[in-house]
Amino acid sequence: MQSTRNKLINLLAEKSSKNEFISGQVLSEKLNISRSAIWKHMNELKKDGYIIEGISRKGYRIMMYPDKLSENTIKWGLNTNWLAHHIIHKESVESTQKLAHIAAIDGAAHGTIVIADEQTDGKGRADRFFHSKKDEGIWMSIILRPNILPYEAPQITLLTATILAQVLDQYEGINPQIKWPNDILINNKKVSGILTEMQAEQDKVSYVIIGIGINVNQKLSSYPKDLQSKVTSLNIEKNEKNDKTKLIQNIIKSFEEKFDLYLKDGFPNVKTIWEQYGFRINEQLEIKTSNESWSGKFLGIAEDGALLAKRDSGIIEKIYSAEISWF
Ligand code: BTN
Repeated sequence: MQSTRNKLINLLAEKSSKNEFISGQVLSEKLNISRSAIWKHMNELKKDGYIIEGISRKGYRIMMYPDKLSENTIKWGLNTNWLAHHIIHKESVESTQKLAHIAAIDGAAHGTIVIADEQTDGKGRADRFFHSKKDEGIWMSIILRPNILPYEAPQITLLTATILAQVLDQYEGINPQIKWPNDILINNKKVSGILTEMQAEQDKVSYVIIGIGINVNQKLSSYPKDLQSKVTSLNIEKNEKNDKTKLIQNIIKSFEEKFDLYLKDGFPNVKTIWEQYGFRINEQLEIKTSNESWSGKFLGIAEDGALLAKRDSGIIEKIYSAEISWF
């Protein structure tokens, strides 16, 4: 159930996004509360950082949202077809992945977003801890129910990496690269990680959860000493604080467009973009799988999303899951 406050914000947001006002009378009828209760709510919203214009005989409209994540601030002016119509926002969670699984099992719709200001037990790949301090970055999980085969799901990780790289590329002076399969680097340091998890039967995906972590406003001191040479954030790279809500909206809009294209056209375009951003393509690398370690040349990615590497013996191998390091 939506609270009266959220209903009020939604009514205001709907009109304000078209630069229109909504009168106190209409609000009080729609919300079934008195005019003075509306007035009290408006004052509360202003205290929370909303800038609201009130003009007599016209009504109210929102001029600016507070710099704080919420379902409303993310939805403000978003206009997507299917992504982020349902947003679950929490101040603090163990992991948005965990919450997304619960929501998905509970029937959450395709395109539902789970997002938090802070994760106390952020999950990285291979069960690693993912640093996700309060308000410093974007910690979100997207629930998808695509009509694809289970073996195709890792392609969505690569697709997501291209989306994040392209969005970050729009920031002046930022040149992102994608480190196979799921890290985004700036100046060789990790700015973002992607964790894809899915629930599937033999030939049917029930749901996929794309976990996205982006370091936005951290200073280096936010990280333990041993990580400081390996990580970065937009703030560290640009030396300025960045608007998280805008970045989230850009990712959501781009994700919707690129995901629809991927379902329509398949993986080839993703491969091309991925290789434009690919980190150290054509260089020697070391590959560690569960049963062997070997070195070879990184050739790029295959038509199905596997990593392509040439053994020193000349044999070309497709790698689906491995730890990769460069010399
Ligand atoms: C990695 O770099 O190994 C993947 C990191 C993925 C982190 C994101 S943050 C949002 C979502 N919730 C989590 O607990 N993990 C993912």
